[in-house]
Amino acid sequence: MPKILIKNVAKTYVDGDGNPVEAIKNIDLEIEDGEFVSIVGPSGCGKSTLLEIVAGLHSQTFGEVIIGEKPVTGTSRDIGVVFQDAALFPWKTVKKNILYGMEVAKVPKAEQESRLEKYLDLMNLKGFEDKYPSQLSGGMRQRAGIARTLIMNPKVTLMDEPFSAVDHLTRCTLQEELVRIHQKEKKTVLFITHDINEAVFLSDRVILLSPRPSVIQSEYRINAPHPRSRSDEYLVHIASKIVADISRGAVKTDNDFVI
Ligand SMILES: Nc1ncnc2c1ncn2[C@@H]1O[C@H](COP(=O)(O)OP(=O)(O)O)[C@@H](O)[C@H]1O
Ligand SMILES: [Mg+2]
Repeated sequence: MPKILIKNVAKTYVDGDGNPVEAIKNIDLEIEDGEFVSIVGPSGCGKSTLLEIVAGLHSQTFGEVIIGEKPVTGTSRDIGVVFQDAALFPWKTVKKNILYGMEVAKVPKAEQESRLEKYLDLMNLKGFEDKYPSQLSGGMRQRAGIARTLIMNPKVTLMDEPFSAVDHLTRCTLQEELVRIHQKEKKTVLFITHDINEAVFLSDRVILLSPRPSVIQSEYRINAPHPRSRSDEYLVHIASKIVADISRGAVKTDNDFVI
């Protein structure tokens, strides 16, 4: 059984004028335990909608999402979510922000402290635990937000463009840190990005959604070991193929798009 099973999921919103907006038409996707899968696609194609349905934040109009054999009916501690903006509590220190979920969950203090040490270390936040969010760079705030999610030990982590608000060099560093953590922990990750190079650099598999109403246009298995080089010819080739396929905007046929 795959870790995340997305079965024939569709979502139609109703806009302010009462007209239907068909965001996702029909998505079928299986994500294996420990797999790192990215979803890419044109802006407005329904990437965030899909992630929010998997997170239990929105209900689908049709279909079903199953995580670890349980249908998703709402948010759950098994599902960790990271958004573009870490949205830390400004009045709490980094340490208090990261510990927040564990305090709510009444995790014993000793366990909280040992997990905190681990994630401060993993996310390179040692020495900043007593700072407030306003005293940190955007990249550090995002690291603290990721630590706050991962420390809860979710079975799956969903990330919606988590690095798009940070500068290019920080983004590269955060990508490398995420790869390092994923290699170590082998937890299932569903990652949304509009940056094709980022998707190819990070993922075991990249899913391309078509323009709205979206369906899966194509998928690409990235068979390259980590750590990867950004200039690796194979990765550059796949990225340029994805970009070409996006500009074609076509929906796959049976013998199309296989790399
Ligand atoms: N709450 C909503 N009400 C109406 N339309 C929405 C709502 N949320 C998203 N949409 C529309 O659904 C489509 C997909 O949005 P979204 O999932 O945010 O796309 P993406 O993340 O790929 O940019 C867009 O056309 C967007 O305008
Ligand atoms: Mg989005």
